[in-house]
Amino acid sequence: MACSWLSAVVDDFNPHNQWGTSRTIHLESLNAEVEISLYNKRLTILNYSFLTNEGILDLADLIENLCSKYDLGKAWGKIRRKDLELYTSQGFTAEAYIDNFFIDEDAVICAKYFGDQRKLSLTSQHNQEILDRLDLIQITGHTPELPAGYSYRIAEAQDVEVLSSLLSQVFKTYPYPIDQTYLLSTLEHTVYGLVYNPEGALVAAASAETNGEFKNAEMTDFATSPDERGKGLAPFILYNLEKVLQEHEYRTAYTIARSSSFSMNKVFKSAGYHYTGTLTNNCNISGGFEDMNVWCKSH
Ligand SMILES: CC(C)(COP(=O)(O)OP(=O)(O)OC[C@H]1O[C@@H](n2cnc3c(N)ncnc32)[C@H](O)[C@@H]1OP(=O)(O)O)[C@@H](O)C(=O)NCCC(=O)NCCS
Repeated sequence: MACSWLSAVVDDFNPHNQWGTSRTIHLESLNAEVEISLYNKRLTILNYSFLTNEGILDLADLIENLCSKYDLGKAWGKIRRKDLELYTSQGFTAEAYIDNFFIDEDAVICAKYFGDQRKLSLTSQHNQEILDRLDLIQITGHTPELPAGYSYRIAEAQDVEVLSSLLSQVFKTYPYPIDQTYLLSTLEHTVYGLVYNPEGALVAAASAETNGEFKNAEMTDFATSPDERGKGLAPFILYNLEKVLQEHEYRTAYTIARSSSFSMNKVFKSAGYHYTGTLTNNCNISGGFEDMNVWCKSH
């Protein structure tokens, strides 16, 4: 590691929070914000702007050194399409894209792997079988409805306790914390849709994590109690979250969904989303690293 700025940034990074610690780096060549998640063994490029031609080289050096020091198998980020060649010149590959993520420009989700293990999908054949089955599905355009006696509402602070229990019941591990304190802190930019059954128990949830600057939202946190599945609760929540986004003139909704879940992928396909690619071993969910499919809807 030759440069002094590089050793200083790498040595000072201190990723104390296992879920994600981010740092902003200002150099003559670039400004960048990167996050390390030890839990997901992954580095995320959260933001970047290149100020000189050296910018991509400095960013690539930084990423390589951080991944080596903290034993991270994957670096990824949503980058502007116009910068794709810069990233591929540094060993990144395009795995998926998100239409109009930057309002009038697509994001390409790029990744670089460190070591041989992480880049090998263990489920690529199964992923393809699911996509092939989904190809046969006809989109009906029906407006989802709740079963009789069920009710829907947007989460408020008092709902986070039951939301946390539902998410913990459904997911053995999750890429982000799902405790009450964390969920409470997300309410500012995340809209949670909740379905309660006739007995008043929370039985399904999902969220729209909004990016107000670029008017896009990630549709995520889909969880339905095992004994309430197959009743159309997830499509109902998705439909209603999209309505909120439309009211606020959001342009793009996308999801990063488990490739192995036929039901989850079916919910998005049926709601008119299109598949744009698969992220290999992207995060630690339900007990291990899993591939994730990206689906988009934009207007
Ligand atoms: C994915 C998930 C949220 C779907 O929720 P849901 O409320 O059951 O959604 P749906 O009712 O539309 O079911 C989706 C499809 O899965 C099928 N399905 C899944 N589980 C079923 C069950 N137990 N009984 C019947 N059908 C089931 C249905 O065929 C349905 O298709 P359909 O439109 O032909 O009826 C839910 O299965 C879940 O919580 N899974 C575990 C958590 C998870 O993996 N979340 C995704 C993270 S990316």
